[in-house]
Amino acid sequence: MKKITVPDIVKMKRIGTKIPVLTAYSHAISRILDSAGIPLLLVGDSVGMVEGGYSDTLKVTVDEIIYHTRSVVKGRRLALVVADMPFMSYHVSIEAARENAGRMVKEGGAEAVKLEGGVKMADTIRAIADIDIPVMGHIGLTPQSIHRMGGYRVQGRVDREVEGLVRDAKAVEEAGAFAVVIEGIPADVAGRITDDLSIPTIGIGAGPHCDGQVLVIHDMLGLSGDIKPSFVKQYIDLNGLISAAVKDYICDVGEGAFPGEEHVFK
Ligand code: KIV
Repeated sequence: MKKITVPDIVKMKRIGTKIPVLTAYSHAISRILDSAGIPLLLVGDSVGMVEGGYSDTLKVTVDEIIYHTRSVVKGRRLALVVADMPFMSYHVSIEAARENAGRMVKEGGAEAVKLEGGVKMADTIRAIADIDIPVMGHIGLTPQSIHRMGGYRVQGRVDREVEGLVRDAKAVEEAGAFAVVIEGIPADVAGRITDDLSIPTIGIGAGPHCDGQVLVIHDMLGLSGDIKPSFVKQYIDLNGLISAAVKDYICDVGEGAFPGEEHVFK
């Protein structure tokens, strides 16, 4: 098996192969997802919510993303690793954006970075892509814009917003991004954008017409507690399985059934 590269991901759209993407934040999960055959692992700033317990992604820092990226890179063998640029790591200046993207590659080992925004971020995407750091765009429901949007709201439900999304998608492609995440928009709008672009679209809450799909790993494994967004398919109830295992352990320790003979040094 061959290491997955940015051109491989772009080619998947050209040859009509759907692109399954998952988030990963740790060495252990990265190893499992990679050996199961996931071609692209995203070290999302969602780590702040699902691992850090924050109510949004805004507090996540560059250092935190670098730490998690390093763990994911160590755990994978073949998958492409994309690191998410946190809020305020690419907004202040083009120079700061380049420097922070560079840190994610140099210190974290990421092979590409992702940042949120369309037309407004085109110059930033171009500046990072120009120093040969591949960039993945992210448009539609952009979680770092939670305060402007007034919550996690589906975007592109009215004509004016649809035209804005189409312009954002084109701007991201023209700026040199190799792929774009489209989040929280109606399926027909996502389909139109996917047809319009030559780079792959990776959907989350954007319906079946995208070139790929991404899910937050905690959501698909059933580790997100009571939060169950309607666009998520949960493939296993790890919450229940872990809880049952831990209850067995508590019982075993209480009854002296663990450690057994086989766990004892002689
Ligand atoms: O932070 C993240 O996990 C993301 C994906 C949901 C696209 O941006």
